[in-house]
Amino acid sequence: MSHIPVLLQEVLQYFDPQPNQDYIDATSGAGGHSLAILEKTKPNGRVLSLDLDERLISKLLLKIKGTELEKRLITVCVNFSEIDQIAKENGFEKVDGILFDLGLNSESLEESGKGFSFLKDEPLDMRFGKEGLTASEIVNTYSLEALTDLIRNYSQEKYAYSIAQAITKFRQRKPIVTTFDLIDIIKHSTPLNYEHRRIHPATRTFQALRIATNNELQILEQAIPKALSLLKEQGKIAVIAYHSLEDRIIKNYFREQAKAGHLQILNKKPITPAASEVSNNFRSRSAKLRIAIKL
Ligand SMILES: C[S@@+](CC[C@H](N)C(=O)[O-])C[C@H]1O[C@@H](n2cnc3c(N)ncnc32)[C@H](O)[C@@H]1O
Repeated sequence: MSHIPVLLQEVLQYFDPQPNQDYIDATSGAGGHSLAILEKTKPNGRVLSLDLDERLISKLLLKIKGTELEKRLITVCVNFSEIDQIAKENGFEKVDGILFDLGLNSESLEESGKGFSFLKDEPLDMRFGKEGLTASEIVNTYSLEALTDLIRNYSQEKYAYSIAQAITKFRQRKPIVTTFDLIDIIKHSTPLNYEHRRIHPATRTFQALRIATNNELQILEQAIPKALSLLKEQGKIAVIAYHSLEDRIIKNYFREQAKAGHLQILNKKPITPAASEVSNNFRSRSAKLRIAIKL
C-alpha cells in the first residue's frame, strides 16, 4: 500500500513555500511532503530529506532518478536526532521551514517485515533503522517492573502488569521471537471481552514497544530544539504527531518557547484532518499538526 501524505494541503498552506526557498523534511518516508514542497520552490529551492529507513530513501531516489529533482532533493539516511550536524554538513544551516511527520510509514507497516503490524506474523524487530535493541530483545530481557512501566507509560494500557507478567512467564519456556508470539501472550493475559473492543487487544502494547524500541519520545525532545536553531527568522516548524505523548511534547515545547519570545504559535488548537481526508486515508485519523514561526 503506498503512503498517502497526511495533512499535505494544510502543511503547504502554512509553510507557503516560495521559489528558491530551502526546507528540511526530518521524516521523508515516501517523500510525499518533500516532493510537494519542491514543486513550489522551483527552480532552485532545495529540500534536505532525512529518514532512518534506508529502503524508503532508495525508493525515493529511484522515483526522482533522471529528473531535475536530483539536484534539489538531498537525502540522508540518519536519525533526526542528528538534524543539526547533518544540516550543517549539507549547507542547510538556515532554512525556511522544517517538517516532522512522526511515526511510521504505511509501507513499513505493510512491507518492512519488521513486525510493526499485529496482523502479520513477522520477527519482532520494530526498529525504524538498524541500531539499538529490537523489540524482541526488549521483551526477552527487561525486568517485570521495567516492562510494566514501559507498557503503561507509553500506551496507558490498563492491563500492563498482567501483560508484563505473562511475558516474563512465557520467556522462561522459550524466547518471544515473533509478533504472533506476543499477540498470543497479550490475548491470554487480558479479559476475553477485551478482544471484542473497537481496537485490537494488542494495539496499545505494540504502540508502547515501538516507542520504546526507537526511543521515540526522548529523540523528539532532543531534536526539536536543534531544529529551531536551524530556522531563519520567520522560518516555520511544523510537527504532525499521531499519539498524545508526542503531541504533548510539542505542545509544551512550543508554549515554553512562545513565552520566552522565541516562537509564535500559528494554531492555538492542533490542526486535524478533515472528514474527507480520514475517509480516504484511515491512518490520518489520529494526526495532529502544530506549526510555529521563529521570531
Ligand atoms: C509518517 S512517515 C513520513 C511520511 C512522509 N511525510 C510522506 O509523506 O511520505 C515517518 C517516517 O519517519 C521515519 N522516522 C521515524 N523516526 C525517525 C527518526 N528518529 N529519524 C529519522 N527518521 C525517522 C520513519 O522511518 C518513517 O519513514
